[in-house]
Amino acid sequence: MTKTLHVALENDSYPIVVGTGLLNRVGEHLTPHIKSNKVLIVTDSFVKARYVPVVHQSLVDSKLDVNIIEVPAGEESKSLTQFSRIQDSLVAHQLDRGSTLIALGGGVIGDLGGFAASVYMRGIRYVQIPTTLQAQVDASVGGKTAINHPKGKNLIGAFHQPKLVLIDVDTLKTLPQRDIRSGLIEVIKMGVIRNESLFKMVEENLEAILNLEDATLIEMISSACLNKAEIVAKDEKENNLRMVLNYGHTFGHALEALTHYNRYRHGEAVSIGMNCAAQLAVNLGMFSETDSQRQRTLLNRAKLPLTFPPDLTPETIYDAMYLDKKTLGGKLRLILPTCIGEVVIRNDIEDQHVLEAISQCF
Ligand SMILES: NC(=O)c1ccc[n+]([C@@H]2O[C@H](COP(=O)([O-])OP(=O)(O)OC[C@H]3O[C@@H](n4cnc5c(N)ncnc54)[C@H](O)[C@@H]3O)[C@@H](O)[C@H]2O)c1
Ligand SMILES: [Zn+2]
Repeated sequence: MTKTLHVALENDSYPIVVGTGLLNRVGEHLTPHIKSNKVLIVTDSFVKARYVPVVHQSLVDSKLDVNIIEVPAGEESKSLTQFSRIQDSLVAHQLDRGSTLIALGGGVIGDLGGFAASVYMRGIRYVQIPTTLQAQVDASVGGKTAINHPKGKNLIGAFHQPKLVLIDVDTLKTLPQRDIRSGLIEVIKMGVIRNESLFKMVEENLEAILNLEDATLIEMISSACLNKAEIVAKDEKENNLRMVLNYGHTFGHALEALTHYNRYRHGEAVSIGMNCAAQLAVNLGMFSETDSQRQRTLLNRAKLPLTFPPDLTPETIYDAMYLDKKTLGGKLRLILPTCIGEVVIRNDIEDQHVLEAISQCF
């Protein structure tokens, strides 16, 4: 069971294949997109043990010369140290300009591997095989790659589009439920920002999604990717439109930073952020309480949090929002909903309104 979508960009386009049983057939999917037979798989310690053997076999069956580099699982691997190790491996295995890097893992591997591919020999081709829901519905589409600097997340990076994205929903079967729920936020977010029918699809199929039913997952993930691809096609380098993807994220990033990235999953922090952005929009009279309640109900059913933790204060959250790089000229840029399926970008919201909305979400 597979579905193929196409991301059409100005100078480039690539397919996203979503389905089951794809890891066994990576070689056959990859072959039409490569120039030479040398590949380097970048993966993490967890994914390597679980999924590299099947991918490796498939690539060898397709007569590819396969090399592997593993980094420790976790966000800490989005570092210059691991980036350097990958460059060393690319050099040591003599990958050339026609070679391909395969990023097999979650968003960390996609960002790290993609960035490594973007600069090695001024850019070689790469393929994303995302294995977390977060990466399947968000990180693997759009060509943003990055590593972290000790002073901030994703500060060092590049735009580099993959040649192919292979999304095997079977990999979600080993993902903890908490990560499924957290990844789901990006789909719900996509529904709120531009597609009411996707939002409704999640409302109507939440149980099937959480039970990881293949057909429902394939439909939902394809739709989320298609929506993201459409946004990216219109604004590849994040000049304007792409900003809407940050709905709930300015609040969420502040919360993640204040809790040292170890208390909340990204999607949990964004869930609180979306609830807060919706509250702000209600206060400003631009979003109905009924729609805000509809969003709250879905987040609640998905067991995603809605309120900030009591050990923080509205002021600390507000201050931390300014440190997020989505401010422009010192002004907060907020994505606010007008209905389920539509948002606007605003940079003129008074401080006291933002603070009030945060206070209401405790
Ligand atoms: N480039 C983008 O546009 C973009 C968008 C959103 C997020 N991101 C980045 O993505 C990263 C978060 O992604 P993530 O949540 O996938 O994190 P991750 O890559 O760290 O994966 C989370 C954990 O799940 C494990 N894992 C991976 N696949 C698994 C599987 N199938 N079964 C069980 N465990 C598995 C990993 O080993 C890791 O321990 C962040 O660094 C974020 O900045 C990038
Ligand atoms: Zn996100």
